[in-house]
Amino acid sequence: MENSPVIRRTGLIVVLVGAGLVVWFGGATGQRLKPKPDLEAGERIYKQNCVNCHGPSGKGDGAAAEKLNPKPADLTSPATQAKKDAELLEVIKVGRPGTAMPGWMSEIDEREMRDVLAYIRTLAAW
Ligand code: HEC
Repeated sequence: MENSPVIRRTGLIVVLVGAGLVVWFGGATGQRLKPKPDLEAGERIYKQNCVNCHGPSGKGDGAAAEKLNPKPADLTSPATQAKKDAELLEVIKVGRPGTAMPGWMSEIDEREMRDVLAYIRTLAAW
């Protein structure tokens, strides 16, 4: 009776469920520990895509700014810096209708948006 197929199969199921739980909990923990934003990547993305309007220091005085109405946001200003990450990420993602601010979701992924936002946070005027 010891080696009956039923017992062996039950053993196998227990092992599989156990392994499944390990993967499941492992994945859940991995998600809670969000990777830190990569500031260097953020700076690179900013210099490539944003500097033309928002300017090298983020003040909204890039080369293209002059012709724009409304002007690019001064990203160093308290008005912008006081906004929540989620709000700024949304503007970066979809742009701001009625202004020259384009949405970036087809150029950069969510991770890179967080990186560039983290870089913008380092430009704060205070
Ligand atoms: C073609 C010019 C242009 C480019 C390129 C551009 N922006 Fe903008 N951005 C604007 C304008 C114009 C506004 C809107 C200002 C307003 O609402 O009065 C804006 C607004 C924003 C805001 C919202 C600020 C606030 O206070 O709500 C963020 C954040 C921002 N831009 C980030 C970026 C990032 C990051 C990039 C590069 C990935 C970028 N922008 C590229 C022109 C530009």
